[in-house]
Amino acid sequence: MKTEVKKRLNIHAPIVEALKAYYNNPACQFHIPGHTRGLGTLPDFRNLLGKRALGLDTTDEFDNLGTLTPATGPIKEAQELAAQAFGAKKTFFLLNGSTIGNLAVAMGLTKKGQKVIVNRNCHRSILTGLIISGADPLWILPEKFEEWGLWGNITPESVEKLLKENNDVSMVWITNPTYEGVVSDVKSIAEICKKYDVPLVVDEAHGCLWNFNEKLPQTSLKLGADIVVHSLHKTGGSMSQSSMLHISKNSKIDADDVERALMLLHTTSPSLILLGSLDAARANLQSERGQKQINIAINNAKYLRSELDKMEHIHQLKSDFGYKTDVTKIFIKADGLSGKRLESILEIDFGIEVESASDAGILILSNIGNKRSDFEYLADCLHKIDKHNYKDIYYLENKKHMPMLTPIIKKSIREAYFSEKEVVPKSQAVGRLSGEVVAECPPGISILLPGELITEAHLPYLTDYEVIEVIKENL
Ligand SMILES: Cc1ncc(COP(=O)(O)O)c(C=O)c1O
Repeated sequence: MKTEVKKRLNIHAPIVEALKAYYNNPACQFHIPGHTRGLGTLPDFRNLLGKRALGLDTTDEFDNLGTLTPATGPIKEAQELAAQAFGAKKTFFLLNGSTIGNLAVAMGLTKKGQKVIVNRNCHRSILTGLIISGADPLWILPEKFEEWGLWGNITPESVEKLLKENNDVSMVWITNPTYEGVVSDVKSIAEICKKYDVPLVVDEAHGCLWNFNEKLPQTSLKLGADIVVHSLHKTGGSMSQSSMLHISKNSKIDADDVERALMLLHTTSPSLILLGSLDAARANLQSERGQKQINIAINNAKYLRSELDKMEHIHQLKSDFGYKTDVTKIFIKADGLSGKRLESILEIDFGIEVESASDAGILILSNIGNKRSDFEYLADCLHKIDKHNYKDIYYLENKKHMPMLTPIIKKSIREAYFSEKEVVPKSQAVGRLSGEVVAECPPGISILLPGELITEAHLPYLTDYEVIEVIKENL
């Protein structure tokens, strides 16, 4: 056997191993899921997915696979191995993505009326969490880069200012990095939080690889955060919806508070395939193979960046634009083209799909599963676009995507969310208070929150909306 294969086989992944045993020793099943290894579903679907995938679709409690809440058996062991790998005191596996991690943080650690410092460009799951708990956000508005249509980082000064002005803040909750890879100085922010004795939670959904490579920014877990949430499925190699929540070794936060909230929020039928994919992703990232893949992803990103430097009309956001960025997240824009138009040219003319497009540009991820040839093809296509005189399309230019507005807050989110509401045509919504969270994905950053004044400036973001839910009483 080749040493590389041996090394791969030696990596311990308890859920993966338990699933293998489960698959190889099938019992006569009289339990959920009722498709019973795929026989109870549409044959076309079974053929599409394959017998094996459906045969592995099971939930916890059966066949020595362990349970998720409370964690037992291979699932418990896999969580412990993940905690070791990330240097955490405790790691929880999450189904329903980092969304549920953020909901559990809000529900388990904040209460009605408590103040929480949050960056305005946070993901909507944080806002949903605050609606559930009733905690009041004290917004930080990071710097805006209008030219690139992007948010900048969260400065330590802006965190300290709010902590100085409010002596009753219960938590600081920041997003790092931004969707496009802009990195904040978490170390200084963590020191400030310690000085004021306030826990720091970092939504690091887009940074789960950082722990595994020194050329990437440092993970907040090593920089003093109390809790870090990672979307392993975004860049870490696990399957969609699977994420992790880590509690740091030095944190005073009671892990039971988070676990209790997770128990209420999680499905009672967790997918072993998704849990197994988290176990597999962790094991892969720790392995020599995974380490190589991250290095390749970094080198591929560098290669694309060097090709972009040769182009005349296509520009990239560089790490020297004033902030640290994650090299594997490549944001580009083309002269005379909106991000949406550039995205559609790549998709329709070249069969390329990118991570996302916004007003100014598009986001390309260099992933651990990409090959160099993918990037050579992409670079080739971008060179062609650079030389070809593509035109923008008028209606696309008029729609805005990246919410960059300063909110005008008239009511607390929770109070507004639970107020009496009515639905009005968009044309009549200006001047009213929003009754809903408007935050399209990607990036899931809010355009409007309950209790915020709707103004003309919101309309370019709402072109796909015919009606808006507003609070019933007039201002
Ligand atoms: C910063 C941030 N946090 C949390 C989430 C939610 O993650 P998930 O899709 O894993 O639920 C996202 C999703 O895009 C995100 O961008």
